[in-house]
Amino acid sequence: MQTFLLSGKNLVGIDIGLSAVKIAALDGKNGSYSLSKYIQINLPEGAIIEDEIQKPEDITAAIVEAANQAGISPLVCCLGISGPNTVARKLQLAGGDAEEIEDQVLWEAEQYLPFDIEDSTVDYHLVGENEGGGVDVIVAAAKKDVIVNFKELIEEAGGVVKIADLGIIAVTNVFELVMGDKLNDPEKSYLILDMGAQTTYFIIYKGGMIVFTKEMNVGGVMITEEIQRQMGVNYNEAEDLKITGDENGNLPEEILEIIDDVVETFFSEIKKTIDFYISSTSDESLVSCLVTGGSALIPGILEGLEALLGVDVSVLNPFDAISYKEKNFSEEEINQIAYQGVQVLGLAMRKN
Ligand SMILES: Nc1ncnc2c1ncn2[C@@H]1O[C@H](COP(=O)(O)OP(=O)(O)OP(=O)(O)O)[C@@H](O)[C@H]1O
Ligand SMILES: [Mg+2]
Repeated sequence: MQTFLLSGKNLVGIDIGLSAVKIAALDGKNGSYSLSKYIQINLPEGAIIEDEIQKPEDITAAIVEAANQAGISPLVCCLGISGPNTVARKLQLAGGDAEEIEDQVLWEAEQYLPFDIEDSTVDYHLVGENEGGGVDVIVAAAKKDVIVNFKELIEEAGGVVKIADLGIIAVTNVFELVMGDKLNDPEKSYLILDMGAQTTYFIIYKGGMIVFTKEMNVGGVMITEEIQRQMGVNYNEAEDLKITGDENGNLPEEILEIIDDVVETFFSEIKKTIDFYISSTSDESLVSCLVTGGSALIPGILEGLEALLGVDVSVLNPFDAISYKEKNFSEEEINQIAYQGVQVLGLAMRKN
């Protein structure tokens, strides 16, 4: 995995999530980007489970379809990876020259990686010097298998993977782009939540860097599955009922009850994680929470989070920092990208 920005051609971002394959291309660089392409192709039920590929043919077909619709050929991309076989973590190291830092990263990584370092790819990004005279780094690690398996899918679809990056890092890159100078105050910490279909990224950002992350196994598909179970409908019907409601576009009472129940589970997981973070770091400086992901559209979620966290909660809008031509995207598309596209936009910020 390559971490440092080298100047070169813009890569196409590709994000294979539980609900869809998404690709995005940006023009521009150095904090001034404009959206040139975005395509999202929905996947059938259960195409991936965590980071295990269950329906490779469907995913490959979706990648081919996305590339065709975008008119991108060949697909030279930055691939997002996530799941239990990946780790993003801040480390405080003694410092030294590049080789010494690398040794320290590998030594430290070996202590905490939940998988064998021999079977993994480890990379790091130097954030800067810390108060103790050492250096802070963000380490990104992933089991080689995961990268290889996803890479094969892209290759099967005629594409080439130039960089693999962690989804959590891609989302954080968009957060940094959107927040800009507001992040200069080192005493303020922010919670970023990317609430997807199967996973919710929980990221604490403070003093110019990621300081804590967790991938929580909660997401919108839990609601979909409960609708399927209680109402005897299939996956697509349940997704429709959840998102568009009945023929008048209203969410029936039964659906609202299911949503409320599942959202309680989300909130208790988030509460547990934030309490763990606060008790282990004594950080009391959380100033706001930024949310993204399709499940941030669940009715009442922002208000509920605000009550839970006691801080301002708002939607992380990538279009505060990324421009687009109105003639190329409908309002509906822009809305969808604003919620569901943050990770893939972050991947598309990478250059070859
Ligand atoms: N208007 C809406 N109301 C409620 N839920 C919604 C709405 N729109 C989308 N969703 C839900 O958002 C989820 C998809 O969001 P997203 O695209 O962020 O997930 P993903 O990236 O595919 O999943 P993951 O990252 O977990 O693999 C689905 O569960 C979908 O049902
Ligand atoms: Mg996602």
